[in-house]
Amino acid sequence: MTTPFSLTPLKQYIDDQNEPICAYYYDLDYLSERIQWITRELPEQVNFYYAIKANSDKPVLRTLAPYVYGFEVASLGEINKVRQATPDKPIAFGGPGKTSVELQGALESNVELYHIESELQLIRLNTLAKDAGKPVKVLLRINPYFSLPNATLQMAGKPTQFGVDQHQIESILKSLGNYSNISCVGFHFHALSNNLDAKSHLLLIQNYIELAQMWQRAFGFEIELINVGGGIGFNYEPHGSQFDWELYCDGLTLIFEQSGIEFKLAMECGRFVTAPIGCYVAEVTDLKTNHGENFAILRGGSHHFRLPSSWQHNHPFKIVPKEQWNWPCSRPGFNQENITLCGELCTPKDVLGKQVHVEQVRVGDLVLFEHAGAYGWHISHHDFLSHPHPERIYIQNNQLTFPKEY
Ligand SMILES: Cc1ncc(COP(=O)(O)O)c(C=O)c1O
Repeated sequence: MTTPFSLTPLKQYIDDQNEPICAYYYDLDYLSERIQWITRELPEQVNFYYAIKANSDKPVLRTLAPYVYGFEVASLGEINKVRQATPDKPIAFGGPGKTSVELQGALESNVELYHIESELQLIRLNTLAKDAGKPVKVLLRINPYFSLPNATLQMAGKPTQFGVDQHQIESILKSLGNYSNISCVGFHFHALSNNLDAKSHLLLIQNYIELAQMWQRAFGFEIELINVGGGIGFNYEPHGSQFDWELYCDGLTLIFEQSGIEFKLAMECGRFVTAPIGCYVAEVTDLKTNHGENFAILRGGSHHFRLPSSWQHNHPFKIVPKEQWNWPCSRPGFNQENITLCGELCTPKDVLGKQVHVEQVRVGDLVLFEHAGAYGWHISHHDFLSHPHPERIYIQNNQLTFPKEY
């Protein structure tokens, strides 16, 4: 994957603004190339879903739709977004808290696959599907016991609210005959987030397959599909090595060749698809030194871009100089200093980079946070303090667009 994320069109936009800038910028041309590269490398026995929780903007979903098998969602709101953006794509519906209202809505929206996270979800879905006269396909989500590779977040392999404990699966498998409208076609695993190591990810998948095959033999039922989740990482460290996607795809091909499995695999990736396609830009509105430390205050913050504070990391950034200065005083600035990049919120937690080195920054310059395309806007608490939302800018076919609805 060689295409660089292009910032050139954004420079024009920046020069044209008179008010303090605060914007998300997504490059849909780059996204289109990226998803084609991702899916081209995969063996054909893999159904690739995009996990829309990472970035559910409709232009993003529309750009991905021609190249992905389907979309993975975790709420009725996400189902509605997919159906509005791209009405006919398959949807897989996961999440530990699916309510009866959401299950009903999913049935009405013809969701293709349900990831079941508890016995009660199974009972509820069967009851509603029976009332609706619809057969449904499910995967049972497992919280397995084996140890997992290093990753930033871990959802399984330890006590969590996700999935069904591996040791309780047998009793559910024995009871499947009681569910008239449910056909259980396999298993679902999503155990971690942001794994950067392709080899350990392949081992994890082999573990999933072996566990599923053990149940297949013991219960003599046919597996159609194993969903191995998302969790492919994106390295936010400047110059850090990225997940080796080619190696991973070659490894998957080998797994199919050597194990002779006849079922398909599904993946549901979010971060790996959209992290590098966006950036968040916020203007410096003030600079100060306080108790011996330097601070930059931005027109924006964690209410738009919660990723750095949620992961407690310094997010990679660039200073983009802006030359206008219309105030009747000399322009405040720092040269060759460490500074803390703060948002405009009234909380000391609103920090996007702590004591990071800058060559030069002046009030009115922009801080551009790179790789903000996934879990940026979409995990943030947008209305805290009622500041205006950032502008949304997409580039498509080399043109900037500013849709009001996304
Ligand atoms: C069930 C499930 N699937 C897929 C994903 C996407 O994960 P990632 O963005 O790490 O690929 C998540 C993220 O939390 C998830 O909870």
